[in-house]
Amino acid sequence: MRIDIITVLPELLISPFEASILKRAIEKGLVEIHLHNLRDYATNKYKQVDDYQFGGGAGMVMMVEPIDKCISGLKAERDYDEVIYMTPDGKTLNQGMANELSLKKNLIILCGHYKGVDQRVRDLFVTREISIGDYVLSGGELAAAIVCDAVIRLLPGVLNDETSALTDTFQDNLLAPPVYTRPAEYKGLEVPKILLSGNLPKIEKWREEKALERTKKRRPDLLE
Ligand code: ADE
Repeated sequence: MRIDIITVLPELLISPFEASILKRAIEKGLVEIHLHNLRDYATNKYKQVDDYQFGGGAGMVMMVEPIDKCISGLKAERDYDEVIYMTPDGKTLNQGMANELSLKKNLIILCGHYKGVDQRVRDLFVTREISIGDYVLSGGELAAAIVCDAVIRLLPGVLNDETSALTDTFQDNLLAPPVYTRPAEYKGLEVPKILLSGNLPKIEKWREEKALERTKKRRPDLLE
């Protein structure tokens, strides 16, 4: 998979890809991340990428020309499955969406700033608009990093057995059951006996029950 991220703040997107699972996925060649500084595509000598909004009102709007130049340049090189715009008024990210995106080959992610992008960017180029939740961030970068993390960890070969995505919370619309490690007793709290029994079918059944119990209690909406 290849992900091209268009941003006015590439610095914000460096460290998420320099640690842990995402770093390893890049090193293994399972994903390529390309950061594009929108300022490099500015069309005037002031390197301007935003401007006042028509009709008045507080806040700047990201201009259509630099974004067009950047996206069109990328599209001339290869086909893209999606041009994603990170925005609080997009569809809220969930596991199903991450699963779907993990099947794509080439993605462009555009990070918004200020009051957002000129509506014509959305009309002309954007195929999907994603929000990471009902709150406003100062820009789309951190949201883009979250989408990348959720998607990349699903790519075949990224996770090993111990970190397998199959048993993740949300993977079957259930929260994950409680987990324990050593010691078997801590400050009077004991690990459920069943987990020490070695009886795998019974352990599996216990985990399913606990997952359902937890989901009913914390997120009944997932069961509807
Ligand atoms: N940009 C600003 N806030 C955002 C959010 N909640 N989700 C995605 N992109 C954003």
